[in-house]
Amino acid sequence: MAICMLPPPSIRYHSFNKTRISRKLVVRGVVYEEGRLERPNWAGETPVSRLVGALISFKPLFSLLKLGARQVLISTAEKSNVPWRDMTKEILESGVYKEMGSVENPSVVYPDYYLNPFHAYDEGNLSWLAAAEAEAATLSIAKRAIPEASTITEANEIVRGNWLNVIEKHHYQYSGNLKIRDILDVGCSVGFSTRCLADKFPSAKLTGLDLSPYFLAVAKYKEKKNPPRTNPFQWIHANGESTGLDSQSFDIVSIAYVFHECPQKATINLVKEAFRLLRPGGTFAVTDNSPKSKKLQELSPVLFTLMKSTEPFLDEYYLLDLEKAVKDAGFVNVQTTLTDPRHVTLTATVPY
Ligand SMILES: C[S@@+](CC[C@H](N)C(=O)[O-])C[C@H]1O[C@@H](n2cnc3c(N)ncnc32)[C@H](O)[C@@H]1O
Repeated sequence: MAICMLPPPSIRYHSFNKTRISRKLVVRGVVYEEGRLERPNWAGETPVSRLVGALISFKPLFSLLKLGARQVLISTAEKSNVPWRDMTKEILESGVYKEMGSVENPSVVYPDYYLNPFHAYDEGNLSWLAAAEAEAATLSIAKRAIPEASTITEANEIVRGNWLNVIEKHHYQYSGNLKIRDILDVGCSVGFSTRCLADKFPSAKLTGLDLSPYFLAVAKYKEKKNPPRTNPFQWIHANGESTGLDSQSFDIVSIAYVFHECPQKATINLVKEAFRLLRPGGTFAVTDNSPKSKKLQELSPVLFTLMKSTEPFLDEYYLLDLEKAVKDAGFVNVQTTLTDPRHVTLTATVPY
């Protein structure tokens, strides 16, 4: 997929004062700086965050917020030329349903957090509608991060390209001798991130793992629609906290845009499982919302309230010290890079 193949825009780091390193990012000549706070004041244990929590817990208002959030998502995507409704219709009217039998693992036990209403879907990620809309939602994440991009493709090239370049640089800096043969994409959703990783590291064998068999069915359906690959993907329906896969069987484990959807306990388990699955010298990469993002810290009250109504674990995400959790699991060379104005990529190594 050509979307992830462009060279990176420049990324620069500046120290504003002695106590806090602040990162700057230059994309197509526009300078982005981090915000003043450690995390947005609408997240965590602040009075604003508590007020939003109280509003959301009021059931009739929650239903209205959910509807509003969904409308905002669809209309923002379509204004950015992501044909949300057409993409969804194409999947729902396809033969995707036939893929379910070959991807679903009936012995999977879903963790409680996964059974919450989520992203404005009553069944969370366990529904055909959520699966059919996932790629449109994924594409519009990039345009929200880089609204100045002239097209959705350009926005995705920047967001995904920076993420992949940081992984590549980290691996060659700390593990250059470890050939990249096997890559695991935990929380692969409908396979967009898996395809990006495969295009960046073409000689590697890619495994996409997710808890939603609906999403995996879409991933498999999309793979079949594309020309066959030399290294076909493997799709696994499992909990990333405890995959049942062999220890030390991957050179890179990537977890993209998953942690903001998880309670802290699950995040810590996902980090520990990644450590177990990586070979010595292997690279771990997490990309997700940046707590220090100026853009996220300056979201309007309407937007952050709508967002929090569909993302039940945002407060836990923003309160977790992810670098510490990764170091505690045994990783070394832990680094966090601002890869676009809204997101950071954390990379780390399993010691030899
Ligand atoms: C926003 S999507 C990820 C998108 C994708 N990685 C990308 O970069 O486009 C988050 C995914 O994490 C999955 N997920 C959440 N908890 C999980 C777990 N414990 N194990 C495996 N997948 C999980 C969800 O089913 C969902 O597909």
